[in-house]
Amino acid sequence: MASSWSGLSFVFAKESYPTLITVLAVTVLWTLWSVSGYFRHRNRLPLPPGRSGLPFIGQTVEYLVAMSTADGIRQWVQKQVDKHGPIFRFRFIGYQVVILDQPEGNKFIFQNEGTSNHIFWPSPIFNLIGSHAVPVQTGERHKLIRRYLIKYFDHNAMSRYIRGVNRNAKRHFTNHWQGKEQLVGLNMTNLYTFSTICDLAMSLEEGPLMDKILEDFHAWAKGLFCLPINLPGFQYYKALKARRVILEVVGGLLEQRRKEIAEDRVSEASQTDILNSLLTVPDGEGNLFSDPFIKENLLVLLITGFDTSGGTLAMTLYFIAKNPHVYEEILKEQKSILERKRESGTDENDLTMEDISAMKYTWNVIQETIRLHPVLLGTYRKTVTDLEYKGYYIPKGWLLSWSNQHSHYNPEYFKDPLKFDPSRWETRPAPFTYLPFGGGPHTCLGNEFGKMSMLVYIHHLVQNYSWSLVDPNYDGPFIRDPLARTPDRVSINVKQVVAS
Ligand code: HEM
Repeated sequence: MASSWSGLSFVFAKESYPTLITVLAVTVLWTLWSVSGYFRHRNRLPLPPGRSGLPFIGQTVEYLVAMSTADGIRQWVQKQVDKHGPIFRFRFIGYQVVILDQPEGNKFIFQNEGTSNHIFWPSPIFNLIGSHAVPVQTGERHKLIRRYLIKYFDHNAMSRYIRGVNRNAKRHFTNHWQGKEQLVGLNMTNLYTFSTICDLAMSLEEGPLMDKILEDFHAWAKGLFCLPINLPGFQYYKALKARRVILEVVGGLLEQRRKEIAEDRVSEASQTDILNSLLTVPDGEGNLFSDPFIKENLLVLLITGFDTSGGTLAMTLYFIAKNPHVYEEILKEQKSILERKRESGTDENDLTMEDISAMKYTWNVIQETIRLHPVLLGTYRKTVTDLEYKGYYIPKGWLLSWSNQHSHYNPEYFKDPLKFDPSRWETRPAPFTYLPFGGGPHTCLGNEFGKMSMLVYIHHLVQNYSWSLVDPNYDGPFIRDPLARTPDRVSINVKQVVAS
């Protein structure tokens, strides 16, 4: 002991001992207080039921395996609910995660976001997203960035974009469907959604550069749900590498645009894209954004903007092929929209947001698709205080995950839940039971854009093509890669239809 105190004198001057002792005493007392608080609560209330498993690993492997198919995760969640009840906990890459009962638990999470919990991304995912991007921000900083970006995704913005999206959809069908008898895999929908968001974000047109970063985006996305091993050959390593490539490409486009702005030669189309705004229009506090901020937010907008709606469109095409009456209903609706335009003398080729609002049945088909196979199952929030929820104690620092996995398949909210039935959308679901877009302050920023671009796609598709599954007996499952989509072996035979 004496020697350690004398050792201390090498580091600290004798006069600072009283301060040092006070700091140590406060630290020890604080630690004892926190630990005793933990046990005080624990003695009174139990932790949510569940297994912790091995340190760090816990249920990581079985959770990742379940996540690789769309049905796998539904069955895994059901198994936990059968075993532990609707509130349960598990350990995922070192984090204690609690899934609450639904719909009350989802409401509890969203309504308390910013007070007792805030958004949280496990560090391997955080490292892929980056510290500047909108999904990882909390509190006032998040509000500032959302307020800035929302003007690109609100209803007014949609009215401005729809013409460009319409043009893009037509080009897509000419380039990727016209003259084809068979399409292998349904992932051409990603080409459409990717080019649509690239156009909006940075006026990047289809071509070799876009094809190149699309591949990198696939590699990036695969890193979101895999073992976070950053060694050559592992998925996570490839994802981080892809992130560096994407940021480099986006950085090059940024530099090029900055030069064009300085030389006053930005094209008319580019003047209204998101990149131009981020470079020239300051945030709500009058500050221009830094380059890392711009690059990471563009990366996030591109990935959230295409993989979600691309996968959804592919699954919708599958369900339409499986249900010929659904194709007929959609076609009827789309034809009646054209008919109305013809009668009112408006340009048939020029879709408007009123036309989008009239696509009710078509939208119900998409809603039913993402009820059965939500692209994302939930995201995490971290508790910033100790919590009590329905008789359980949830310590500060644990993760809560909102989830659509029990309510989307609960017959109490969705009758005959495993059946694909767009007619169920004639009535609205109960609050917090249908959550394909998340909720609370971090709810999906681009859902209106996703909705509009998917409806424009189906509008052109059904009027020009009919399609059937090459293997009509194929009955799933879909995969998660990590977002839900159809596997490559789901191919279609295509027939061009003659407009009547
Ligand atoms: C079918 C289409 C889509 C689905 C199912 C979907 C789903 C989601 C979900 C579940 C979240 C997380 C919400 C939360 O944590 O509470 C999210 C966030 C987000 N989405 Fe979407 N999304 C779609 C399309 C889009 C599109 C087209 C964009 C446009 C670029 C977009 C941009 C974003 C952004 C920026 C966030 C983060 C928002 C924030 O943290 O404040 N999404 N989305």
